Amino acid sequence: MNKGIGVLMEKKRKGQRIVSLTAYDFITARLEEQAGMDFILVGDSMAMAVFGEETTLTADLDVMIAHTRAVRRGAPGIPVIGDMPFGSYERSDSQAVGNAARFLSEGGADAVKLEGGNGRMVSRVRAIIDSGIPVMGHVGLLPQSIRKTGGYRVVYADGRDALFREAHDLQDAGVFAIVLEGVEERLAGDLTAELDVPTIGIGAGRYTDGQILVVNDLLGLSGEFRPKFLKVYARIDRAVLEALETYAEEVRSGAFPEEGHAYHARDDK
Ligand code: KIV
Repeated sequence: MNKGIGVLMEKKRKGQRIVSLTAYDFITARLEEQAGMDFILVGDSMAMAVFGEETTLTADLDVMIAHTRAVRRGAPGIPVIGDMPFGSYERSDSQAVGNAARFLSEGGADAVKLEGGNGRMVSRVRAIIDSGIPVMGHVGLLPQSIRKTGGYRVVYADGRDALFREAHDLQDAGVFAIVLEGVEERLAGDLTAELDVPTIGIGAGRYTDGQILVVNDLLGLSGEFRPKFLKVYARIDRAVLEALETYAEEVRSGAFPEEGHAYHARDDK
């Protein structure tokens, strides 16, 4: 049974590390639940990982919700968190609440995540939580803000005050966990020690309460994308390419299909 997002806080209290990945489809979600993930994020990284876009900025709300539904079906027993895409919560608190609710009512998610911890974002987070929807925060490197920041910027010591203030404001607003993305390891460790809510790191070193990666990246399905924080655990790309090439070769040579793959007249078997 899905015990909900409370398991994350329980793990932090017990000093147990939280393990998570993104997923965008039914089969991957099913494998991730079988492998013992503590939760799944249907990240807006889907725009890049699945749709081949340059950034996450083009992630579409309706598409995100449809994929959240597929992930929910694949992983009924663990928390599924829907990532609110760029443009789906910036305009007003009521826009944010309406779209967050769709992730639960249409996508079957347990919670939503949104990026940023400035005053405006804290107001959105408060409004969503007030409406009864749990929220995961996200600070540090913010892919949805690259047009403002001028690129993917890791947060180092000179960004400490702003980072800590934002994380504390999000915690005070009631988030149940915070993603720390692209944060220098010591900063992430100090912040994790200060916060009551669990931190989930990506590119934030060893001392966060949990880790998350984009599943395509760790399976070797992201081409030449090899950021410093990534460990590639399998080369599924090689296995897929080999299978596809063998199939093409066998069709061209006549080796596939064989007699056993064909339907025959009933009396002929
Ligand atoms: O969209 C995503 O995959 C994310 C993770 C990197 C945390 O936000």
